[in-house]
Amino acid sequence: MKLSGKRILLGVTGSIAAYKTVYLLRRLVEEGADVIVVMTVAAAKFISPLTFQVLSKKPVPIEMFDLNQGSEITHIYLGRNADMILIAPATANMIGKMASGICDDLLSTILGAANCPVMMAPAMDSEMYENPVVRRNISSLRQIGVDFIGPQSGSLASGATGIGRMSEPEEILSFAVDKLTAHNDMEGKVILVTAGPTRESIDPARYISNMSSGKMGYAIAGAARKRGGKVIMISGPTALTPPSGIDCIHVTTTEEMYTSVMNRLAEADVVIMAAAVSDFRPVEKSDTKIKKGESVTLNLVKTTDILSEIQRKKGRQLIVGFAAETEDLIENARVKLKSKHLDLIVANDISHPEAGFEKDTNMVTVIDKWGGITGYPVMPKSEVADRILDHVLKRMGPGNG
Ligand code: CTP
Repeated sequence: MKLSGKRILLGVTGSIAAYKTVYLLRRLVEEGADVIVVMTVAAAKFISPLTFQVLSKKPVPIEMFDLNQGSEITHIYLGRNADMILIAPATANMIGKMASGICDDLLSTILGAANCPVMMAPAMDSEMYENPVVRRNISSLRQIGVDFIGPQSGSLASGATGIGRMSEPEEILSFAVDKLTAHNDMEGKVILVTAGPTRESIDPARYISNMSSGKMGYAIAGAARKRGGKVIMISGPTALTPPSGIDCIHVTTTEEMYTSVMNRLAEADVVIMAAAVSDFRPVEKSDTKIKKGESVTLNLVKTTDILSEIQRKKGRQLIVGFAAETEDLIENARVKLKSKHLDLIVANDISHPEAGFEKDTNMVTVIDKWGGITGYPVMPKSEVADRILDHVLKRMGPGNG
């Protein structure tokens, strides 16, 4: 039983595909999940709530008034008490409501208050699915971490053939199993992540830095924490709030980042250098503000290359670097992989419109020292973070390192 002990809130919305959700519920229960079904009014026109009640052995709330006022069974309780909310089928309407923060029935209100992973299996007509507003809603939900399974192409209830069929229950089940059981695969591991830019002062008012927002490093820290790892994040100046439950050390200069990394290195099972370290600093910092009108020549000197200075601790320690490139992505990344003695390097083309500094998405290629190379499409940085951690875990297994 792959889901024993897992609590799933199964939301059913108004689509004919709801008949497949009956079988999905059976399979979830067979795998040991504790499932509570919540339906919309429209869903109850397709399938009787009694069907779901019998299979889940629990009442099936539909409207806010079905809930016992004052008891702990509130919309907040329902959503917050679940390990996952799975909406199958998910209509364009429910997707739109969640994307816009509309809470006008029980299920949309639960989604509005949810603090657990949300997965949706859309079902709708092709025209609807291709509608730019629906596409935009799906894409903005993806950005905040909602997972989508399907839809698939095939014959639709309307008689047409095209994309829009809800994915098959077995596929949805296996997705849910992966998501729920992948959760603690970093338990017992210590992940040292660097994030953001570093800053080098020119005078009391000015500095040299770069465009890094810190989003990629923060996403890695958050993902590693969510997967049960102990995370130490060393962050340069950013506007971001560190993910909760991690140990965050704030630094400004490259030298400070270097010192912090070296201080914490021995604790780490894996070091992921996602920071965009400033490569140069002024030879001298002026104590007074340099006045304009003077012609200024800055003499710069290279900063410490933190990655190159890392000496692996005894035993297994995985070192991961990033390569921010604007040309010859793979060749340049391979050179860095070798010259900095890394195990893995994450190459990203920062000139791509949907990748790199300040963006919420990234497009990376992961190259390892064993000859492996995996390219990924444009994805939210949270998903890129998970893929990088998948590579890390694969290489931390017995026999590697
Ligand atoms: N890095 C580092 N210390 C530095 C510069 C970079 O540890 N002083 C790390 C980065 O965190 C990243 C990797 O080295 O993981 C590659 O950084 P990148 O800026 O792509 O390359 P550089 O080595 O700085 O080379 P270049 O700027 O010439 O491409």
